[in-house]
Amino acid sequence: MSEPVIKCENVYKIFGANAQKMLQESNGNVDARTFQDNGCIVGVNNASFEVSKGEMLVVMGLSGSGKSTLLRCISRLTDATGGKIFIEGQDLLQLNNKELIELRRNKMGMVFQSFALLPHKTVVENIAFPLQIKGVKTENSISKAMDMVKLVGLDGRENYFPRELSGGQQQRVGIARSLAVEPDIWFLDEPFSALDPLIRKEMQDEFLRLQEKLQKTIMFITHDFDEALKLADRIAIMKDGLIEQLDTPANIVLNPATEYVRKFTEEVPREKVLLIEDVMDSSKDNLGNLKVLKDEVIENVAEKILTQERPVAVIDNNKNVIGSINPAKIINTVFGGRKKN
Ligand SMILES: Nc1ncnc2c1ncn2[C@@H]1O[C@H](COP(=O)(O)OP(=O)(O)OP(=O)(O)O)[C@@H](O)[C@H]1O
Ligand SMILES: [Mg+2]
Repeated sequence: MSEPVIKCENVYKIFGANAQKMLQESNGNVDARTFQDNGCIVGVNNASFEVSKGEMLVVMGLSGSGKSTLLRCISRLTDATGGKIFIEGQDLLQLNNKELIELRRNKMGMVFQSFALLPHKTVVENIAFPLQIKGVKTENSISKAMDMVKLVGLDGRENYFPRELSGGQQQRVGIARSLAVEPDIWFLDEPFSALDPLIRKEMQDEFLRLQEKLQKTIMFITHDFDEALKLADRIAIMKDGLIEQLDTPANIVLNPATEYVRKFTEEVPREKVLLIEDVMDSSKDNLGNLKVLKDEVIENVAEKILTQERPVAVIDNNKNVIGSINPAKIINTVFGGRKKN
């Protein structure tokens, strides 16, 4: 496998005057409560993971669980208290200011939870601004920015100032500004949170369409589990600064690692989230005539399968039989296994 684009090794971010000292004394065993009693807040606790090229890692968790802090460490808006972070193999903490600015300008894009728009620039100027910093001619940058204005549905508002926009509209300007630069690595902190459900769904679909085409390496924060399931290649679930589980959406739904994770999965309509492949058996015995594709969402083929007496063959895109699924498995997946273990 090629080198990961983002790599974190035992990353900690602890706030407070004694953070460094306490982290050293703890030998990496950070207990949030003990730290708090000593005047330190644990933002990120021992995060280790990799994100590969073209992958979308969604970071999920309740408010205050450390999602933004983790992202801020990786984009080095804040310095981690401990651990190592590599971007395309480069040690992030070793970069000098100039190198860091280059990296941010040319490789990284960010959409902030707080929008962070320039108040004295109009919508289109805000979007064009990072392009101009990169040296794109004004005319070209404005033309590109206008494409983005249309993409996020703000045409007609391009000459407004941020204060004249609603929260959701401001958020869309932030997304457009970041899209315009087409960064290789994209950090998005709750980019859709201020949008109403209909626009939010449209933006998600548009985002997936773009990602299919552009194959960026993305870290995307949300506290909406449905959004995570829809967008993610893998999901990291955080609690009190710790990553409790990092896995594919299917594995998180089927095998939640902790009670906290299980709570998120409780209400998930599994038949809409899981694919046949996620729940099939490897056995190829006693198959009936019906065949289903491994990539089908369960919901779309459940009815067909439930009318069968014999196991249904599961095929890949080359029509090779790779396993089977029987009606009982469908029923079990949809209704079973939700109790506490
Ligand atoms: N600059 C700071 N100084 C002190 N504590 C901080 C600072 N920034 C964050 N924290 C603390 O770190 C913890 C994690 O905060 P963070 O903003 O990462 O949460 P989050 O998961 O992004 O939450 P939300 O979903 O509300 O955005 C919180 O307890 C927060 O109070
Ligand atoms: Mg946050």
